[in-house]
Amino acid sequence: MKATRKLGSVMAVMLVFAASAILSAGSQSGGAKKLEPIGPVPVPADNPMTPEKIELGRMLYFDTRLSGDSSIACAKCHDPDKGFSNGLQMSDAYPGTKHWRHVPTVLNAAYLKHQFWDGRAGSLEEQCLGPIEAPIEMNQNFAHLVEKLNGIPWYREQFRKVFKSDVTMENLAKAVSAFERTIVSKPGKVDQYLKGDKSALNDSERRGMELFTGKANCIACHHGPVLSDNEFHTTGVPEIEPLKTESDRIATRHFFATGQKYPNPRSVDADYGRELITKSQSDRGKFKTPSLRELKWTAPYMHNGAFETLEDVIEFYMKGGGNHPNKDPLLKPFELTDQEFDDLLAFLEALSSPEPIKVQRPAELPKKGDGTL
Ligand code: HEC
Ligand code: HEC
Repeated sequence: MKATRKLGSVMAVMLVFAASAILSAGSQSGGAKKLEPIGPVPVPADNPMTPEKIELGRMLYFDTRLSGDSSIACAKCHDPDKGFSNGLQMSDAYPGTKHWRHVPTVLNAAYLKHQFWDGRAGSLEEQCLGPIEAPIEMNQNFAHLVEKLNGIPWYREQFRKVFKSDVTMENLAKAVSAFERTIVSKPGKVDQYLKGDKSALNDSERRGMELFTGKANCIACHHGPVLSDNEFHTTGVPEIEPLKTESDRIATRHFFATGQKYPNPRSVDADYGRELITKSQSDRGKFKTPSLRELKWTAPYMHNGAFETLEDVIEFYMKGGGNHPNKDPLLKPFELTDQEFDDLLAFLEALSSPEPIKVQRPAELPKKGDGTL
């Protein structure tokens, strides 16, 4: 098993090498930044995947009892029928509160180095507990949740089987993360093309790829197997109206800044992105470069859902991005003919699976216990 994996990755390296030779002709940005076929999902050494663990994680992901009022599961905001996001500009929120960011998809999050739009978590395991506790998301108390789940026989037994322990939040995060590592793209036509099958893309998609790596220079930030450099950039996506005018959303922004110990949190008059974490002004307006796989299923786009369609996104980049004093100099205006516009769009769409990626919803959730432990 291990030997096969190793062989697989050696072969992947060789194929990437071949692909970079194919692409370098169209690339302005040198050899290091290239598209790569998607490979096996990275799995941390201290959280190996097993079928029982994945099954436990799947139940937890769909279980509304993880939230304080038993109304919200991870799957409410990261809905498998909506590309593992929620199809809306803004996230859902705990009853009585309003959210201030767009739900990033869980699809392929396992490939990203940083989690959240501002990158404040470094792994899925670290990310998982945030929403459960957050008063604007699931508003749950950890100590209480641990007791509640320990009282449900299937959970208690499954945790013992998988982790040789009763329910703990740390192990809950591990199980959910193992499940999330199954929510990934299968290799598609762009991957086949990158591996040398020239017929995998049609002419328009192929020209679109050349624009992506050439004149439009998307490759400068969107490269690697899920088309993210795992860095942070200011692109100047415009602020959206609800975040200027709805006091509940503004309250959430100030609450978040307070939680991050940002000095003078009520002065935070826009989403400062990465700066809220690092407190460095040079990070103002920076957000994580998201994956560009499966975009067909995950609209709207950007940290605040400002753009409804991929056409809107391309038009934004053609103007050299938005207006922001901190805008990344990599963004420069460029022109596309109508044909080129369609070609770039066709390439972006080719990065999506032909059908939405599915996971099995549990037919029913583990039943309450009868008091025996
Ligand atoms: C009420 C809606 C809501 C619920 C419930 C929720 N999330 Fe999220 N999730 C979000 C939002 C919004 C973000 C982005 C927040 C930010 O960047 O500050 C996010 C971010 C994430 C990310 C980071 C993805 C990336 O690319 O950065 C992952 C992974 C994730 N959530 C998984 C989960 C899991 C697992 C659960 C259940 C334990 C969960 N979420 C529950 C709304 C929700
Ligand atoms: C300077 C780096 C950079 C360049 C160049 C760049 N992007 Fe991005 N891209 C980002 C960042 C950062 C975000 C997230 C911004 C935000 O959420 O406010 C993003 C977001 C996106 C999204 C939204 C994805 C989602 O799930 O919400 C799409 C689509 C996209 N870029 C496509 C492109 C295309 C097409 C090009 C070339 C025309 C391009 N990008 C060039 C950095 C870049």
